[in-house]
Amino acid sequence: MRWSSGIHRTKYFKRKKVTVVGSGNVGATAAFLAAQRELGDVVLLDVVDGIPQGKALDMYEASPILGYDAQITGTQHYQDTADSDLVIITAGIARRPGMSRDDLLATNVKIIADVTRKVVAQSPDCVILVVTNPLDAMVYTAKQVSGFPRERVIGMAGVLDSARMRSFIAEKLRVSITDVTAFVLGGHGDTMVPLPRYATVAGVPITEMMCKEDITAICERTAQGGAEIVQLLKTGSAFYAPGAAVVEMATAILKDKRRVLPCAAYLDGEYGVDGYYMGVPCRLGGGGLQSVVELDLTATEKAAMAASLESVKELVKQVDGLGVF
Ligand code: NAI
Ligand code: 2OP
Repeated sequence: MRWSSGIHRTKYFKRKKVTVVGSGNVGATAAFLAAQRELGDVVLLDVVDGIPQGKALDMYEASPILGYDAQITGTQHYQDTADSDLVIITAGIARRPGMSRDDLLATNVKIIADVTRKVVAQSPDCVILVVTNPLDAMVYTAKQVSGFPRERVIGMAGVLDSARMRSFIAEKLRVSITDVTAFVLGGHGDTMVPLPRYATVAGVPITEMMCKEDITAICERTAQGGAEIVQLLKTGSAFYAPGAAVVEMATAILKDKRRVLPCAAYLDGEYGVDGYYMGVPCRLGGGGLQSVVELDLTATEKAAMAASLESVKELVKQVDGLGVF
């Protein structure tokens, strides 16, 4: 049998291209899941020589078993990321016990600024999804450095925090996870804002199904969800759920699914916020952020959002003070 040549990456048959910068725990998990979902060809980049190459080859060798078609490349070179449709940034240091997400700021802001410049030089039309902590300040850094419109620089946190809340609700009520929805808004820190009124089981708000004490316990555990994993792991922070969360966002964008998901979006007057990233419900689809969904909040919920905004402002002040852009 003979094959004619010339059908690889032509303008007629071109797969999407997803770059993951940082091939540590979250980056490698996200790359593996992106390949499994056949979101496109995947490039895994890291500063450490050999790690992205080894992980990429290992993932490619899993493809015959798991049945996905994706080229997976590991590299140190940004040229290999050229013309990416989507770039997921996970590069930086992670929390260890005793550290808050905010303790990572000074180190990670320099990494994010450097990575963003190099990403943008190779892929000026891409959508950037930032994962690195402290999230709301790092996604702000990526937006400032890239000069991209807000549609193309989005942060991942709310999908993760909401997934944690959903899993605790499903466990408590002994119902299928597929019937549980939840929204956790605000900054990705201790001041995050779980919204029980907008958490449902098969469309019924949990406020009609659970007592106040149980709801409070679930909200508190959600806000401390990252720290709970750090305490258990001792050497780093969560990565399976974060990897899955960022791939959920990537899927919505690359397949233009127009999902309504909680994301860190640059607010332009919505929720009374101007010029900061905050977790809010967004419609995600082709091109990235398609719109911000404004929920009617009660006075208590508004106050919680305002308190969370103050934490985000404090982080942004620190970033601005470092003079990286
Ligand atoms: P990790 O330490 O396993 O991986 C980080 C990787 O970044 C390492 O492989 C390191 O070599 C690489 N790296 C460092 N500087 C780089 C540079 N300049 N260019 C390219 N690669 C570079 O950390 P992990 O667990 O993957 O977490 C990554 C980040 O994501 C952390 O900041 C963590 O706090 C954050 N995170 C955020 C979440 C969220 O909800 N937004 C959830 C989980 C983690
Ligand atoms: C988390 O929430 C560390 O931000 C990360 O697990």
